[in-house]
Amino acid sequence: MQTIDANGAKMPVIGLGTWQLNGDVGSRITEQALKLGYRHLDCALIYGNEKEVGVGLHASGVKREDVFITTKVPHTELAPAALERAVKQSLANLRVSDVNLLLIHWPNPQIPLAETLGAMAEMKKKGYTRHIGISNFTVALIEEAVKLSSEPIATNQIEWHPYLDEEKVRAACAKHGIAVTAYCPIARGKVPGNETLERIGKAHGKSSSQVALRYLVQQGVIPIPRTATPAHLSANLALFDFTLTPAEMADIAKLAKPDGRVVNPAHSPQWDA
Ligand SMILES: NC(=O)c1ccc[n+]([C@@H]2O[C@H](COP(=O)([O-])OP(=O)(O)OC[C@H]3O[C@@H](n4cnc5c(N)ncnc54)[C@H](OP(=O)(O)O)[C@@H]3O)[C@@H](O)[C@H]2O)c1
Repeated sequence: MQTIDANGAKMPVIGLGTWQLNGDVGSRITEQALKLGYRHLDCALIYGNEKEVGVGLHASGVKREDVFITTKVPHTELAPAALERAVKQSLANLRVSDVNLLLIHWPNPQIPLAETLGAMAEMKKKGYTRHIGISNFTVALIEEAVKLSSEPIATNQIEWHPYLDEEKVRAACAKHGIAVTAYCPIARGKVPGNETLERIGKAHGKSSSQVALRYLVQQGVIPIPRTATPAHLSANLALFDFTLTPAEMADIAKLAKPDGRVVNPAHSPQWDA
């Protein structure tokens, strides 16, 4: 699997989103994904299913070293002692000694960012994570994080799909060598049925979802689609045998609108829980 290299981290260009993959489905889909060639798992303590993802990981037969594992610290656990407790819990859930990437799940204005970033650096020093990163950070917060962090920031994980324009955040990340990971790349199921995406898909023998994912990959963004449907697992990996033309990329960009978000930032932690 190709990787995006950013500030020392080598992140496989497609990841498996694991939100809501609970119980047996979580273990089964994780195992199937790894057997199919996925090498990047996107987890979070708040999803409440790291144990199941861990079961799938260990059952897959794929070596731990070959899988890029991301997990996230909940916005309520960003003070240093709580953060360390949360990270140890995630490692125990997943049954791994470290993760590849630890993200601040959502910023929390109640807890000084400097303290949180200090604690994140400490997690790296203690060997619990190989890289650190952020999620749901705005341009202003990215600038602040870069100034405050003693460790390089590998990625900013944000909502991104054809119905959103994330150019400003992308540019702010690029300025500091930070990658962008795209969550909700299928807009939580709002991509299938879109006329433009279906038309473009037809021209390439692909589905609208594959077009939406390719649109991100072609911009150097790392999508982490979630699926509980085995056929979609392989479809979401089959993105490297076609290229969208500049005119098609421009048509897709025109789908972005100011109210295109599917995750409401006002309710964000709950929406992603
Ligand atoms: N950092 C954050 O704050 C944050 C916030 C939200 C999400 N995330 C992460 O990002 C991941 C992805 O986001 P998401 O799960 O919210 O939404 P998503 O991946 O955009 O959408 C998932 C939906 O798309 C459908 N789907 C997937 N592949 C498909 C395909 N090839 N064709 C048709 N439908 C397809 C799935 O249905 P089927 O199951 O039937 O395929 C599911 O209903 C999450 O799982 C989580 O890991 C992070």
